[in-house]
Amino acid sequence: MRRACVIGWPVEHSRSPLIHNYWLRRYGVDGSYDKEAVRPEHVAGFLKSLTVRGYVGCNVTLPHKEAAFAAAAETDDAARAVGVANTLWLDGSRLCATNTDTYGFMAHLNLTAPGWETRDKPVCILGAGGAARAIVYGFLQAGVGEIRVFNRTRARAEELAKQFGARVKVHDWGEREAQSRDAAVLVNTTSIGLNGAGSLEIDLTGFNADCVVSDIVYVPLETELLAGAKARGLRTVDGLGMLLHQAVPGFEKWFGVRPEVTDALRQMLVADIAGPKQC
Ligand code: ATR
Repeated sequence: MRRACVIGWPVEHSRSPLIHNYWLRRYGVDGSYDKEAVRPEHVAGFLKSLTVRGYVGCNVTLPHKEAAFAAAAETDDAARAVGVANTLWLDGSRLCATNTDTYGFMAHLNLTAPGWETRDKPVCILGAGGAARAIVYGFLQAGVGEIRVFNRTRARAEELAKQFGARVKVHDWGEREAQSRDAAVLVNTTSIGLNGAGSLEIDLTGFNADCVVSDIVYVPLETELLAGAKARGLRTVDGLGMLLHQAVPGFEKWFGVRPEVTDALRQMLVADIAGPKQC
């Protein structure tokens, strides 16, 4: 029996067990996936003792992603680009780390809005945190020529641009609407809109009709940004798909089966999001 888990502090809110236990049942894998509440001061010790605890690997959620990256003996390009890890596994006794947010975001975008990349137009990113780094890295890998980053704290966006090079351009937060109208894709990576709190205050009138609008916030599933995009007939890409797809590489590493993101799995998560946790 192979065992994996998600570690966090707190960890109760994590939806990863729903996803992985669904796949364990679906593929008849002899395995388990648990939640482990690990205090920040205990993370390094916990990760050193993964094998002793019976785990073949784990997911990592807040606030342990930096610590997980630091604890790994091996990191891949995706983890190094983002600077934090969300998926760990053991290769013999070596702890290996990756960040699957880039894969999760791009896989969902490619499936939901095929052809987004055919337009020679910039991609616009709101926010400059860890999620923004993962997504900027994905668009650079996909060959996008210009990525505009808008962040409330401009210095953070400049740091991000410095890391990724000349294809990433920094703009003031106040320019987010005016400078995104010609975008091929607009992505909100900030926490604005989470649980319905706050507003991005972007009027999508005048945006190119081909623009794809994406939000990594998935509670609520349809954020104000996505509702506004739909009302204007723009294609939308929600945050739930990123959550589902980012789980695929970890499951495959730990349990040896590449799982599928199906509509049935998605509906299970939709029901969970609509349930009591939203309150
Ligand atoms: P993550 O790693 O999930 O991306 P993060 O590093 O905390 O999370 O980043 C959160 C992002 O949301 C940041 O870009 C943050 O802007 P700042 O860098 O200026 O803090 C952005 N954000 C959060 N609340 C915001 C708000 N009310 N207005 C504008 N941006 C906000």
